[in-house]
Amino acid sequence: MDSRNSWTIFFLLHSFLFVAFSGQDGFLSLSCGGTTSFNDSSNISWFSDTPYITTGKTTTINYNDGSLSTNVSARFFPHSKRRACYRIPMSNATSLILVRAKFVYKNYDGLGKPPIFYVSLGTAIAAKINLARKDPWIEEFLWEVNKDTLACCLNSIPSGGSPIISLLEIRPLPKGSYIKGKENFPNKLLRMSYRVDCGHINESIRYPMDPYDRIWNSDRSFIPFHATSGFKIKNSFNQSNIFEKPPAPVLQTGRVLARRNIMAYNLPLEGLGDYYIILYFAGILPVFPSFDVFINGDLVKSNYTIKRSEISALYVTKKRISSLNITLRSINFYPQINAFEVYNMVDIPPEASSTTVSAMQVIQQSTGLDLGWQDDPCSPFPWDHIHCEGNLVISLALSDINLRSISPTFGDLLDLKTLDLHNTSLAGEIQNLGSLQSLAKLNLSFNQLTSFGEELENLISLQILDLRDNSLRGVVPDNLGELEDLHLLNLENNKLQGPLPQSLNKDTIEIRTSGNLCLTFSTTTCDDASSNPPIVEPQLIIIPKKKNHGQNHLPIILGTIGGATFTIFLICISVYIYNSKIRYRASHTTREETDMRNWGAEKVFTYKEIKVATSNFKEIIGRGGFGSVYLGKLPNGKSVAVKVRFDKSQLGVDSFINEIHLLSKIRHQNLVSLEGFCHEAKHQILVYEYLPGGSLADHLYGANSHKTPLSWIRRLKIAVDAAKGLDYLHNGSEPRIIHRDVKCSNILLDMDLNAKVCDFGLSKQVTKADATHVTTVVKGTAGYLDPEYYSTQQLTEKSDVYSFGVVLLELICGREPLIHSGTPDSFNLVLWVT
Ligand SMILES: *[C@@H]1O[C@H](CO)[C@@H](O)[C@H](O)[C@H]1NC(C)=O
Ligand SMILES: *[C@@H]1O[C@H](CO)[C@@H](O)[C@H](O)[C@H]1NC(C)=O
Ligand SMILES: *[C@@H]1O[C@H](CO)[C@@H](O)[C@H](O)[C@H]1NC(C)=O
Ligand SMILES: *[C@@H]1O[C@H](CO)[C@@H](O)[C@H](O)[C@H]1NC(C)=O
Ligand SMILES: *[C@@H]1O[C@H](CO)[C@@H](O)[C@H](O)[C@H]1NC(C)=O
Ligand SMILES: *[C@@H]1O[C@H](CO)[C@@H](O)[C@H](O)[C@H]1NC(C)=O
Ligand SMILES: *[C@@H]1O[C@H](CO)[C@@H](O)[C@H](O)[C@H]1NC(C)=O
Ligand SMILES: *[C@@H]1O[C@H](CO)[C@@H](O)[C@H](O)[C@H]1NC(C)=O
Ligand SMILES: *[C@@H]1O[C@H](CO)[C@@H](O)[C@H](O)[C@H]1NC(C)=O
Ligand SMILES: *[C@@H]1O[C@H](CO)[C@@H](O)[C@H](O)[C@H]1NC(C)=O
Repeated sequence: MDSRNSWTIFFLLHSFLFVAFSGQDGFLSLSCGGTTSFNDSSNISWFSDTPYITTGKTTTINYNDGSLSTNVSARFFPHSKRRACYRIPMSNATSLILVRAKFVYKNYDGLGKPPIFYVSLGTAIAAKINLARKDPWIEEFLWEVNKDTLACCLNSIPSGGSPIISLLEIRPLPKGSYIKGKENFPNKLLRMSYRVDCGHINESIRYPMDPYDRIWNSDRSFIPFHATSGFKIKNSFNQSNIFEKPPAPVLQTGRVLARRNIMAYNLPLEGLGDYYIILYFAGILPVFPSFDVFINGDLVKSNYTIKRSEISALYVTKKRISSLNITLRSINFYPQINAFEVYNMVDIPPEASSTTVSAMQVIQQSTGLDLGWQDDPCSPFPWDHIHCEGNLVISLALSDINLRSISPTFGDLLDLKTLDLHNTSLAGEIQNLGSLQSLAKLNLSFNQLTSFGEELENLISLQILDLRDNSLRGVVPDNLGELEDLHLLNLENNKLQGPLPQSLNKDTIEIRTSGNLCLTFSTTTCDDASSNPPIVEPQLIIIPKKKNHGQNHLPIILGTIGGATFTIFLICISVYIYNSKIRYRASHTTREETDMRNWGAEKVFTYKEIKVATSNFKEIIGRGGFGSVYLGKLPNGKSVAVKVRFDKSQLGVDSFINEIHLLSKIRHQNLVSLEGFCHEAKHQILVYEYLPGGSLADHLYGANSHKTPLSWIRRLKIAVDAAKGLDYLHNGSEPRIIHRDVKCSNILLDMDLNAKVCDFGLSKQVTKADATHVTTVVKGTAGYLDPEYYSTQQLTEKSDVYSFGVVLLELICGREPLIHSGTPDSFNLVLWVT
């Protein structure tokens, strides 16, 4: 072996091993815009794309591919302002797939304007397609399946022309592949830059030679001319240690550099990015070549040795590079490489919460318009009328449409900072917004609203409130003054009157009042200016709780009786009621304070302290029908979970205090304990111990659930812990408590994965020792509800036990109680198990 030239001979070793791949398991090959099915020369079956997409127009494109005349069908999307999506069902919930798409323009429309557009997968912007640069254009992505449907969309850009697509292919990849070495880059989409079969000179290798139908290209155009040609070696390999399973025909060729000791591949990349590189080496030579491996000048492996008849691979990630230089410098014998793959790692933005998504769908339906809102509102591109911050919808602007009322769904958009509903025919009172604690700007101008409603004071972050050109009547409510951040209040062109409340008389607030009956801070000027009879005031104090009807009848009653004495009588009553209300409030406050002192361990927080602890409600860690839970930090450094109730779930003062009493008495190692509370103005806030381990639901279904699944022994421990907590509620505490909402997201884990049951917010106490059940309105979570409780509305501990049974099934099966697809039997976990 002293002659270097001898390396140019072929080595014939062992027998050729080729694992035949029968069938095309999981392949889906769509001929976009095609109408018939056909089998191609590799026996791959192609189908029309119509079951997977409903929009777009179809055409056939004829072009010359080299010397061959080719016909290809295509689907294009003219005048589309939005995304057009293929929705492809994924049979395998947790696996890796290859998605390949081919785009052809070839001036099919005769306009000579090749389109530019984006392709997205799920929430990720996968690639920008510019058919002026390359036509046809092929893209290939590796996608970790995370849902039962994959949305593969073409996103048009302004004046970018009509997006067009010809082929779309889905291929399952081997389990465990394309993970090694990139553990520090979770949640990435891999966009292929290169997949090269080194030393191969003919056209690409793909199915059936690669059973996974990856396309392996020749390396001719990347290797400098001075390198030797490739070798083709017959061999059998032990592939068990390489999850990517590069096919034997690819490994049987390699590039070996005979005359120099440095071999380099120089590969241009598309823009600055993070890249994932896999180099494959096969021991096809009867020696042990060893060499140093450099990537962009950095030594990534020194003295890398290829062992005879073995396959090995080197996995490398590189951050922020715009070109790639793979260099092998020989130590012993010659540098050798058989194949490599290079992928751009593209971010996959997190999805918006399912509450937000379903709220947006309901709002879209209520407008009666097709706003094109589908899939995720924020990613890959935010929908029209919406702005996002990360995966949070922070701004919604719907105007000049016919909405008529603010539906409760708006209250589910908890992250909104700006809401603009001007000129949407809103009438009646301002309602259903009380939960929007981040809302800073609310524009309800140019509507027919008649009343302020009672929820505005809950909008604690409100800065700008624009109510101009409505039909607001009566006086401006006093509680607007409680909005500390309010600095612009536009009340122009309404029917308001009476003095403005003194609570709004601050330097920090600009109030615009023109175009009303009479609206100033000073009562005297108001009387002078107003020509209306002065009897209007008492009406407003007496009647409000009776709602609209009483208010309308009163002037009639006044008119019929007509006596001034009656008016005076009314005023007296109203003054009495008003005063007693004040007295009630005053006495109540003092009673509360004395009560609070008796409450041992629980700390009473002021609203200011809560705001500081949560950095002004910065980080939401949970949400539900009751409002939101925020992460907080007490001055002593202890982390807490701060649960802010919003209006709809708020209890009366007495019930709230009752509940605090109750919660404060419950101390058990498997129940989340109360640290304190805040009860100020209308705020009802509970402060709980914070459990950093997240909820059981996070562990079973969250982003990391596939990577670090809970072991069986852990699952068993969690089940036992939760059972102990529930048992204490049912039998250990006095009064006994029925939880009413046992579910995975209400079982929290601490650092050491000890489980604790939380959220007795819906709890019902069984006060009398002999009571066997309580009749209630059914509450709880779909999928966990005891059918008996549902039909009888009689609540017993057994309902909790039923729900706990569902939790056990989830622990065993690792699936949610309801999934929104599949047959009715598989839809519901309990039915499915039965
Ligand atoms: C394609 O091949 C499959 C078998 O691989 C066969 O069942 C099917 O009929 C073929 N389709 C056409 C259109 O030839
Ligand atoms: C495709 O399948 C047909 C029969 O199903 C077979 O005769 C033919 O050889 C196959 N072609 C290839 C390239 O495998
Ligand atoms: C392409 O289609 C045209 C007409 O639509 C037809 O005349 C031609 O033969 C087709 N070419 C191929 C290669 O199928
Ligand atoms: C799901 O994927 C696994 C391995 O990734 C495979 O063994 C199994 O056949 C797949 N199931 C389906 C229905 O595709
Ligand atoms: C390349 O293809 C030609 C025919 O197309 C064949 O004769 C030759 O053996 C092939 N070479 C390799 C290395 O596969
Ligand atoms: C392949 O290698 C693995 C270790 O890397 C070994 O356990 C296995 O037995 C080998 N298989 C064959 C067929 O040689
Ligand atoms: C590639 O890197 C090697 C050393 O790592 C260097 O010698 C060579 O000049 C580089 N090639 C280019 C084109 O940058
Ligand atoms: C390279 O590694 C081999 C064993 O893998 C060893 O025998 C050899 O001495 C090493 N060479 C250098 C220069 O480190
Ligand atoms: C309100 O919207 C209607 C269309 O729904 C439009 O015609 C009208 O000009 C708008 N008014 C204002 C004040 O924007
Ligand atoms: C509210 O919307 C109206 C109509 O578009 C606009 O004129 C007004 O400036 C908006 N108010 C604020 C505070 O932006």
